[in-house]
Order: sequence, then structure tokens, then C-alpha cells
Amino acid sequence: MPYTSILIAVRDVESLRRRIQAWRREGKSIALVPTMGALHAGHIANMKIALKMADRVVATIFVNPKQFGPKEDFEAYPRREQDDFEMLSAAGVHLLFAPDVAAMYPQGYDTTVHVGALGSILEGAERPGHFDGMATVVTKLMQQTQPDIALFGEKDYQQFVIIRRLVTDLNIPVDVIDVPTVREADGLAMSSRNAYLTAEERVRASALYKVLKEVAITIAKGGDIAASVKAGHEALLKAGFSKVDYLEARLADTLAPLTAATQPGRVLAAAYLGRARLIDNVPIPQA
Ligand code: PAF
Repeated sequence: MPYTSILIAVRDVESLRRRIQAWRREGKSIALVPTMGALHAGHIANMKIALKMADRVVATIFVNPKQFGPKEDFEAYPRREQDDFEMLSAAGVHLLFAPDVAAMYPQGYDTTVHVGALGSILEGAERPGHFDGMATVVTKLMQQTQPDIALFGEKDYQQFVIIRRLVTDLNIPVDVIDVPTVREADGLAMSSRNAYLTAEERVRASALYKVLKEVAITIAKGGDIAASVKAGHEALLKAGFSKVDYLEARLADTLAPLTAATQPGRVLAAAYLGRARLIDNVPIPQA
């Protein structure tokens, strides 16, 4: 009979640590896959990669209040813990850590990880404090779990760059692995927030990926960077997006402005379609 893992769920740090220490005594390697739940095929793809890379996989579900602004969707953020549990179980994940807010930030909690310049551009310029909240919870999850590797989706590319910087700066001995974005058949990046789209918006939403790809290809072919970015911006508005927070070509490693197509680059955007704020990014193809 094939081996199937049994998913254990814990809500407190003590129980998490006990389980992990037992695995460490058995010499097992550990992967951490942090999520905010409302899992979709993209999350499960991350879990499957983690299962190939480590002996034991710890998924976390925590809708982190510290990374939502006062006018953002913390309350509305989809929560589907039972479905999530079943999906993680079917994928073969070994441990789910799903703390509540009081377990993560108990009475008296008073420490925040502050992200420097990387945290105040692009997403950070639109969502002040977001990356400090994200970095705080990711640092805590890494300290609580002490994994060998931690996996993050490339859809949140700036988040991935910040976390890679964070583990270097804070000497956290974890390998940060980026996992390629999983897309729907029409190219839309999978996201828990896609649930906010109406049927009509859902059809229009695929334009984001198409426009990003067009901009990336035009730049790769030698097109003027500023003009390509401007054309992408206009194409999004024409496709029905009501507001473009940013569409930019940046260096892949530091997110500094891209000045030549020969540099490894990325085109990143965030734009509103109805009440959904969609973000996505693509690499600039290299010759
Ligand atoms: O990408 C996410 O879902 C969140 O930002 C993360 C990394 C789980 C931290 O809350």
C-alpha cells in the first residue's frame, strides 16, 4: 500500500516545536510553506515542490492583520479552513500550523521587523506598512519552525525579494526558494483575491498577464523602456482596469529601475478591476 502522510494540525507554538523537534531527532529535513489560507492550485503546487525538496512539509495558515492597512480587506479576506485542511491533507503535507491572532501576537507584543528601501517602493508605496507586517510574520514563522527551506510564490515577486534580503540581513539559516506563478488557462495568476472578481471582470482580468508579457517582449526586443511601460499602462486602462497603481520595469534582483534590456529584469504591475486589486509580474526574456 502506498505511504500516505496524515496531516496533523496545531494552533500553538509549543505543539509546533514539539513535532518539529521529534522530526529533527529522526534526522528529517523540513520545508516551510507560509500561506494566508483560501488555498488554490498555486498553493498546492508550492506544497508539492516542498514535498520533493524536504522530508517533512509544514504549511501555515494565518491571515496576518499586521500586513493589512486600515482600509484593506483583512475582514473580507476569504477564510476556508476546512477546505484548506482537506487540500493540504490530499497533497500529503505533514503538519499544518494555524495559530489565531492571540497566539501570534499575545498581549504586550511590541516588536516589528522594519524593511528598508525595498519595502517602500512599488507595493510598499501603495500599501504603507504592508511589508513590515509581512516581514514580521515571516520572521516569526521562520523562528517558530526553524526550517531548512521556505517556499514563496513568484506572483508576489517583491515579497520574495524582500524575504531573500531579510534572511541574509538577519542571518536566518533558511534557504528561500521561489516557486513559479501558477496560472489559469487564460494566463491569470492564481490568487485567493480572484474570488472578488465578478464573472465579467474575470474575463477581462487575463489582460493583466497579456499586457505584462507584451511589455516584457517589447523591451527584450530593444523597445524604449519608458515608452513600453507607458503603452502597457494605457493598454490596461483600455482593457477595463479602473486604476493602475504601477506598471514598472525593474532589475530582477534589487528592484531598482531597469535601464537596459540586457540586465535581468522583471515587469511588475498592480491594477484595480472592480473591487479586486490584482498584482502580477513576468521576467523580461533574455537573448
Ligand atoms: O504571501 C502570503 O500569503 C503572505 O504574505 C505570507 C507570506 C503568508 C505572510 O503572511
